[in-house]
Order: sequence, then structure tokens, then C-alpha cells
Amino acid sequence: MDKNAPIGIFDSGVGGMTVAREVMRQIPDERIVYFGDTARVPYGSKSSSTILRYTRQIIKFLMTKNVKAIVVACNTVSALALEEVKQEIDIPIIGVVKPGAFVACNSTRNGKIGVIGTEATIRSDVYSKFIHEINPELQTVGKACPLFVPLVEEGLWDDPITEEIARRYLSSMLEEGIDTLIMGCTHYPLIRKLLKRTVGEGVNLVNPAYETAVQMRRVLEWEDLMREEHSEKAEDQYEFYVSDFPERFQNFADSILTFQIHAPSQVNIEEY
Ligand code: DGL
Repeated sequence: MDKNAPIGIFDSGVGGMTVAREVMRQIPDERIVYFGDTARVPYGSKSSSTILRYTRQIIKFLMTKNVKAIVVACNTVSALALEEVKQEIDIPIIGVVKPGAFVACNSTRNGKIGVIGTEATIRSDVYSKFIHEINPELQTVGKACPLFVPLVEEGLWDDPITEEIARRYLSSMLEEGIDTLIMGCTHYPLIRKLLKRTVGEGVNLVNPAYETAVQMRRVLEWEDLMREEHSEKAEDQYEFYVSDFPERFQNFADSILTFQIHAPSQVNIEEY
């Protein structure tokens, strides 16, 4: 396997850029090919069989770019399709759920962990399953927070409306006394400050995006696949593909990165 080959990262849309951003920070020499399924987002309200079909198409597309490893940035895909597609490819592939669950287990002091995510992620109960595999004594409380995704995409990251909705979503798990909260959706790290204000100092927020980037670095080291150095500028290291509306993706990416990305290319993902 060529160490200079890119890492493939994909998501249902723009949100996975929070994971790509962490990968860029943690392993800055690596090239990245990012795919955002902006034509078919959201995945969070879709069935497992649809999500599995979309995931297989995207992996097929990423394989045409000769990626050496894949990061599933989408929590919903990590929850519902990753275990199955893992068996079908022969390069390393990691999702965001296991790294997030692992850190939450290590950081809770009172054994009560809250998980927020899309409807599909919460329905799958996958965070609780991983948490209980690590430590069956821990308690988990899940809550689907479907309104956060559109609010984040509208740019309402620090808005009283988002804050009020956060209070309603989180009040019952706070009453149950959680001391750790997993932000189990690509978009939530962007409202981290607001979530922190809502849950208070006593609750530790876990960002699976960060933990996943750290995990990808470990995998590359372990597999001897780390790219040794790079000479190109940041924007030339990264390629972006979307299934619809490249301009919108570019605006979002530019708002969360410290450099301007090259214009994303549009791909007809249904062909894969
Ligand atoms: N990327 C999705 C996730 O992390 C959120 C957006 C969607 O529903 O597709 O679960």
C-alpha cells in the first residue's frame, strides 16, 4: 500500500467536516479525499437498509480514488452500517462511535453517560452497546436531537432558539444526573459552547470527532501507513466531492477551516 495515498473521509453532508478538521490537525501530513452526500442528507431519519446501500456506494467511489484507509465521519453510518461494510473491504476503516464510547467510559466518574445523536443513531442504541461491552456497570441515557442539524446548518450556533431547544432536549438526562455527554453527531461540536452552558461545568462533553482522528493516527502508525511529510499547501492536500450543491458545501467548509478549500466536484453517487 502506498503511504502517499489519501485517507478517505465521508459523511452524509457537510457535518463530517468537523471530523476532517480534526484529522487535518492530528495528522497534518496526510492527504484527504472527502465525500459529502449533500444530495441525500439527512441520513438520520432514514432506515438501516437505505443507509447501508448509500454507504456501499460511497465506499465504492472512494476506492476509485485509491484511498489507503477510510474514516466514517457520520455517526449514523458508524452506528448502522460500519460493522457490515468492514467485512467487505481490505483496507482499515474506522467510525466515530467506538472512539467516542471508549473515551466516555474513561471519563465518567459517577457511571452515568448521556448520548445525543440523530434518531437513527439513538434508535440503534449502538453507543450503549459499546459502552456496556467495555463496562456493563455503566448507565446510559440516549436522546435524539433532530433539530440540532438544521439549526447548525442555518448558522444558529450561538442563538437563543438553539439554547432553548438544547434545554428541552437535555433537561431529562440532566435530572438523571449524567456527568458525561457524548456529542454523537457530526454537527454537535459546532455548538459545543452552547451545549456546555446548558449542561454546566459538572458535565464533561465528549467529542467523537477528536477521538476518531487520534484513533486514525494510531491505525496508520500500527499499519505502517503514515505519510512521512508533505510539501504542498493545505488546500492542495485535500480534495472534496459532493453529490449536490458544491457551492453550499464550500461556504460551510470555509466557515470552519482556517484556509479556503478548492471548489468541490460534483459526483453522481447513484452510479456507484
Ligand atoms: N452526519 C449525521 C450524523 O453524524 C448527521 C446528519 C444526518 O442526519 O445525515 O449522524
